[in-house]
Amino acid sequence: MSKVTVVGAGNVGATVANVLAHKDVVKEVVLLDIKGDFAKGKALDTWQQAPVDYYSTYTRGTDDYAETAGSDIVVITAGIPRKPGMSRDDLISTNAKIVTSVTESILKYSDNPIIIVVSNPLDVMTYAAFKASGLDSSRVFGMAGILDTARYRAFLATALNVSPKDIQAVLMGGHGDTMVPLPRYTTVAGIPVTEMIDDETLNAIVERTKKGGGELVKLMGTSAWYAPGAAAAQMVEAIVRDEQRIFPCCAYLDGEYGLKDMFLGVPVKLGKNGIEQILELKLNEDEMALLNTSADHVNKVMEVFGGMNLV
Ligand code: NAI
Ligand code: 2OP
Repeated sequence: MSKVTVVGAGNVGATVANVLAHKDVVKEVVLLDIKGDFAKGKALDTWQQAPVDYYSTYTRGTDDYAETAGSDIVVITAGIPRKPGMSRDDLISTNAKIVTSVTESILKYSDNPIIIVVSNPLDVMTYAAFKASGLDSSRVFGMAGILDTARYRAFLATALNVSPKDIQAVLMGGHGDTMVPLPRYTTVAGIPVTEMIDDETLNAIVERTKKGGGELVKLMGTSAWYAPGAAAAQMVEAIVRDEQRIFPCCAYLDGEYGLKDMFLGVPVKLGKNGIEQILELKLNEDEMALLNTSADHVNKVMEVFGGMNLV
């Protein structure tokens, strides 16, 4: 696999392109944005970093979908980010139209790409791309769980004064304040996290994780990009290298976890065909109830999307 297109050259898209170039695992990254020459500038800047940081991945920018022809993977970051006081769901009226039209334009020039959606509200925008693309559900999925889990892992690393490298965790559900971090599936170098931390501190970290995106919006006036961009690039790397890595991703559910015809964060295996497997954890009653609450929330946003009659 050699060609990756990133649509939207803003904070997240430019970071995806830059991090991916540093990984040096694909031949070419095309960065596309509707803002005139903006993507050209961002891509050229990343290409000019190559001699310094020593990578060969060629990055080029464009505003013309013809240049995305034959893409193996497309990352969609186009759309507006939230401002303080907004929830991700407030973005739907603008971003649903953008994600739908971006997907249709991509499919005109690439037959069977793998599409990774980043635009918010994530779970519903991934559904929009899935419907607009007509692709198999194993080839359309969203990035959120790696980011949300990374926030959880980073908070735990700080609290425990250990390296974030040693914290492994699973988090499920929608990309919103109802997401479900799972302490029962969290370890510190293989040690159950509950043996390392008291309940009160752990619960506070779980709650902070759920509102992790909002915390950054309050601090910066817009949403985050370094960790989100790196997370999407990690998904691309897992696919290109056919790594069979297990990540929480926003995937199409067709009966898994008792949920149907919706996208939600679940652990999946990523390889050259996209989602190679959805892992079904043996959730207990409390965990399942939290997952269902999160699914209910996503379904409410799905109703708004349905009312827009876009696909
Ligand atoms: P940004 O405003 O910096 O960049 C968005 C870019 O999309 C702009 O350059 C804009 O010109 C471009 N764009 C708008 N309409 C377009 C179209 N039709 N075709 C091509 N490009 C178009 O925003 P940022 O911070 O990069 O965020 C992008 C999206 O990603 C937002 O919806 C944000 O909420 C979401 N996000 C999702 C995360 C996740 O975990 N899934 C994490 C962080 C952001
Ligand atoms: C985030 O979680 C806003 O979805 C974006 O940072």
